[in-house]
Amino acid sequence: MRILVTGGCGYIGSTTARHLRRQGHEVVVIDDLSEGHQAAWDGAMHQLDLRDADAVQAFALKAGEFGGLIHFAARAYVGESVEQPLRYWRANLVPVLHLCEAFPGLPFVFSSTCATYGEPPNEDPLHEQLPLRPVNPYGATKAAAERLLQDRAVASQGSYVALRYFNAAGAEPDGSHGEAHDPENHLIPRAIQAVQGLLPGLTIFGNDWPTPDGTCVRDYIHVRDLARAHEAALVHLGQGGESVALNLGTGQGASVKEVVQAVEAVSGQTVPCEDGPRRPGDPSYLVANPRAAKEILGWEAQESDLLALVQTAWNWHSQHPQGYRS
Ligand SMILES: NC(=O)c1ccc[n+]([C@@H]2O[C@H](COP(=O)([O-])OP(=O)(O)OC[C@H]3O[C@@H](n4cnc5c(N)ncnc54)[C@H](O)[C@@H]3O)[C@@H](O)[C@H]2O)c1
Repeated sequence: MRILVTGGCGYIGSTTARHLRRQGHEVVVIDDLSEGHQAAWDGAMHQLDLRDADAVQAFALKAGEFGGLIHFAARAYVGESVEQPLRYWRANLVPVLHLCEAFPGLPFVFSSTCATYGEPPNEDPLHEQLPLRPVNPYGATKAAAERLLQDRAVASQGSYVALRYFNAAGAEPDGSHGEAHDPENHLIPRAIQAVQGLLPGLTIFGNDWPTPDGTCVRDYIHVRDLARAHEAALVHLGQGGESVALNLGTGQGASVKEVVQAVEAVSGQTVPCEDGPRRPGDPSYLVANPRAAKEILGWEAQESDLLALVQTAWNWHSQHPQGYRS
């Protein structure tokens, strides 16, 4: 299949683009390099800003036929979205509209997020029938984009799969390719950077949550498992499958303290930690019920062991302490 991947120089997008190419697909990437890295993807790449409708239309006119589109490009910092909501609505919703207009009928796989659910109603794993009640602009922009795609599908103007990732983590096991954000706000790379002396320490936001060890629990899904899910979603749509929103997670939670222990076990060093206050809007427990993705896509996480996942991240960060600049 010839596949258009937006945000293909970013963390999950470049991992997926590489996976698709290994599987024999032809991949064309769009990225504006606002966050991504040229070095993360060495295939066909068009540098353009998806917020620019004319640029997207011009690209569509000359790009030729695609069998599917995977849209990763977005801004994804929750705190920043609270401070700059209009920037987030433009960055995360407008490109979806432009892509739908420029590629009528094209099967659309969308990077959504567990942040669309908002505060979980209880401590059960989250399933897709729950109402979407995002509590920050980031989650709201993603929920709105899902709605846009749903309306397009209902009008028979193109099918979609919205993939609601939980916490993406990990890297290629050989350390050749991994996560490089600036600033980095994900727990596993921050804990590793603290060990490497690149951060003064790791702040743990709250140790009095109603969880077994008092720290927040999240579902860490390996980025390589995410990559496989995107291919499965394209196959599903290519076979005329229904439009649907699906969780992508392992179904298992790990607390902040457990992640810190895993980084210490893998690195053989102590993570310098300090306790900080709870962050407003941080749910204590976010774990996926991944059953629907298994039923509909035949997909399930294969790399869900936390120690093994952290090992892959360690391999990447220890070989590339400055990310793609290393
Ligand atoms: N990382 C996670 O844990 C996580 C969890 C849930 C959902 N997501 C979603 O997954 C997607 C990818 O996340 P990531 O961690 O790989 O992010 P990332 O920042 O590493 O990648 C995003 C890429 O999109 C590009 N981009 C952004 N705006 C653009 C625009 N207007 N035009 C063209 N390119 C643009 C950036 O340069 C970057 O390369 C995002 O949509 C994010 O919201 C990520």
